[in-house]
Amino acid sequence: MDFYEVVKKRRSYRAYKPDIPEKEKIERILEAARLAPTWANKQGVSLILVQKPEKVKAIWRAIDQDQKFSSAPTFIVGIISEEGSGTNKNGEKYYGVDFGICFEHLILAATAEGLASCWIGMFNEDEIKKILDIPKKYKIMGLTPLGYPLKSKSEVNDRIPIDKIVHYEKF
Ligand SMILES: Cc1cc2nc3c(=O)[nH]c(=O)nc-3n(C[C@H](O)[C@H](O)[C@H](O)COP(=O)(O)O)c2cc1C
Repeated sequence: MDFYEVVKKRRSYRAYKPDIPEKEKIERILEAARLAPTWANKQGVSLILVQKPEKVKAIWRAIDQDQKFSSAPTFIVGIISEEGSGTNKNGEKYYGVDFGICFEHLILAATAEGLASCWIGMFNEDEIKKILDIPKKYKIMGLTPLGYPLKSKSEVNDRIPIDKIVHYEKF
């Protein structure tokens, strides 16, 4: 799939078929995340693939957003520690930026593989850390279900117009 087609096709899916995605597809998706750029090439993001049904169910319960994601066959959970990235000259930490780039590589690669996903930022972090044995120093910055969508969606179009976000030479 052409890059721009991938960008237009990517949508957030909240209902999934039970089929587990193919291993080769998952490997290519994880590889796309591995190749993401990071501050000083620190590569601080770790990804946890979760497919055991009892763990998948436990994660869905820890997300706790009504029935959303309850049919997802697989989750990928992304973590990073504050030391896993850098700090800019204003003292602002960049781990969130590194994480966002890496995880969006993953999400776009999933789309290119014909798989559905959804950035999830609202969940019970302590609960997921317990389920997956994640040490205290890491932050869970996001997770996504991975699978085939129950229903297909239209391409992205509900965005503000380009002239509202792009400015030339000055704001
Ligand atoms: C950082 C981030 C966190 C998000 N967290 C959630 C979430 O917890 N639950 C959810 O249903 N959608 C979540 N979303 C999905 C957004 O609601 C979705 O991307 C937005 O409505 C645009 O729709 P689209 O992704 O289909 O284009 C999140 C998206 C981002 C980028």
